[in-house]
Amino acid sequence: MAGFKRHVFVCLNERPAGHPRGCCLGRASEDIFNHLKSGAAKAGLKGEVRINRAGCLDHCEHGPTVVVYPEGTWYHVPTKQDAQEVLEKHIVGGQVVEHLLIDNIA
Ligand code: FES
Repeated sequence: MAGFKRHVFVCLNERPAGHPRGCCLGRASEDIFNHLKSGAAKAGLKGEVRINRAGCLDHCEHGPTVVVYPEGTWYHVPTKQDAQEVLEKHIVGGQVVEHLLIDNIA
């Protein structure tokens, strides 16, 4: 069957230092990407869950920005601990992590 149980996009967009919108890469989104990718593999989710690099997702001021499909849930994931919580609760467990929703910090 084509597609994945969950498909996750992590913004790794980079802008020059001092750019007014900032960027997710400048807020360590590569650490978040690597943590989710290795965590999904360790959880045995290869083939079921895909963690992809993304360009700007247009929520720069709330980055590092992560979106989880098929739900279309948008997260602000500032630390590796937060990434672990999204991995365990949402990506594995299907439960939205309310306190990391972009809608709840905007
Ligand atoms: S730079 Fe990450 S959402 Fe725009």
